[in-house]
Amino acid sequence: MEKSAINGKKIAAGKAIGYIKSGMTLGLGTGSTAYWAIQGIGELVKNGLSVRAIATSKQSEALARELQIPLIPFSEIDHLDVTIDGADEVDEHLNLIKGGGGALLREKIVASATKFYIIIVDQSKLVTKLGKFPLPVEVTPFGWELTMRRLTALGCNPKMRMTDNKPFLTDNSHYILDCSFGSIDNPALLHEQVSGITGVMEDGFFINMADVVIAGSPDGDAEVIVNASKK
Ligand code: A5P
Repeated sequence: MEKSAINGKKIAAGKAIGYIKSGMTLGLGTGSTAYWAIQGIGELVKNGLSVRAIATSKQSEALARELQIPLIPFSEIDHLDVTIDGADEVDEHLNLIKGGGGALLREKIVASATKFYIIIVDQSKLVTKLGKFPLPVEVTPFGWELTMRRLTALGCNPKMRMTDNKPFLTDNSHYILDCSFGSIDNPALLHEQVSGITGVMEDGFFINMADVVIAGSPDGDAEVIVNASKK
């Protein structure tokens, strides 16, 4: 990973943890940017901050355990105060593509239960239109070939995500089809079309969910972009 990208991510994460207060319930994101936020929260907990958290992946859950961040199940709560997560692309309306790390389904469940959803990225993730990053779509293994043909009919070129010559399996034991649509004019409409396909568990569009996007730059600045339509 490029050093400048790492710095931008860490700077955005540092700014985001400033929103956390004692007593809050938190959603912990997944990926190399959320990693820095979880590290920061671990440090705050070590210094006496009292929070409880739900992680968006087994990987982030393991990190939280290592840092002794108290974890709770959804049986104990029905909302989270703040979630901090990364994204693969952020457009001008703060719509997102997520799922590069394969955690999109858990990430969306956590995001949907969150009162204040903070997205942290390095500046390079800010785009005019979504779509350069292929849209991750989580599908059931049963009938995936049919699901893939239906996705293709929407105008993309889906590719099965692979790891060690085998289909990548999500934490929920599903496959990921990475769908290259090219530049996307209407992400909300495409989200409806993709998520309407039977066999699609979730897609990587997060439409108008972010309350704030914090974009870190390698020179140490963090731009805080507020979602005016969610105020
Ligand atoms: C995980 O599935 C993703 O949604 C990540 O949040 C996203 O891919 C950003 O990852 P990085 O912070 O590693 O770029």
